Amino acid sequence: MAERKRLIAGNWKMYKTREEAKAFVEGLTEQLATANINLKEQNSVKAVICAPFTALAGLADMLEVQHVAVGAQNMHEAEVGAYTGEVSAAMLQDVGCQYVILGHSERRAYFAETDAGVAKKTIVAIHKGLIPIVCVGETLTEREANQTQTVISSQMEAVLDELVKQSDQIAVKEGQFVIAYEPVWAIGTGKSSSADDAQAVIGFIRSLIAKRLGEATAQAVGILYGGSVKPDNIKTYLSMQDIDGALVGGASLQPDSYTALLVNSF
Ligand code: PGA
Repeated sequence: MAERKRLIAGNWKMYKTREEAKAFVEGLTEQLATANINLKEQNSVKAVICAPFTALAGLADMLEVQHVAVGAQNMHEAEVGAYTGEVSAAMLQDVGCQYVILGHSERRAYFAETDAGVAKKTIVAIHKGLIPIVCVGETLTEREANQTQTVISSQMEAVLDELVKQSDQIAVKEGQFVIAYEPVWAIGTGKSSSADDAQAVIGFIRSLIAKRLGEATAQAVGILYGGSVKPDNIKTYLSMQDIDGALVGGASLQPDSYTALLVNSF
């Protein structure tokens, strides 16, 4: 198995004004010092916070000091244009983003994002040098109907088809393409997937990537688990062979719990 760096990505969703984001960074700075953690001096865990658009600019500068990267939670695939309310990859980079979450289940459910749309955005992000964190996952109804693999396959194949088409231009390098497996029923519910179930699906996702893009690429892709990850359960996920980190909502909002997630990831 390739040695992939762990990624602990916070997803703040629609929480935190700039003032609240600043308070988070101050708290995090204190907590990291207390825990004696210098993220610059270690090579095993990468910390990322995906914040609302309005908080991004200031946050990237403040978090850079702590060696925490910043990401957005969505973007538009066009370079520029008459797309009222939308934000492009270049705009995200302009405010210091290195990452962008794409196809989160909340965007699929409430903003009609489709597999094909998410695939397009993924390609643009990679072309532009942003690291996409592409979310996939089944609903409870789908899981209970034994549809998990079917749903994950179609979400993944949409993205993999585009990557195969672009394979002369895009080489997926280690750490440059991230998938987050987030069972919809586990998001914000406190009902996390068992680590074994998460490993089974994530191993399946890696096998899909291997089939289309080859084993070496599959081993270079980071695959995260997300859905009610907390400081007290993160270790069980990270102990699994194919789970390379976590995408965390609720537990990333407070400096103490986010620091605890990092501490438990080393
Ligand atoms: P949660 O959210 O950690 O609050 O369950 C995860 C996510 O939506 O990415």
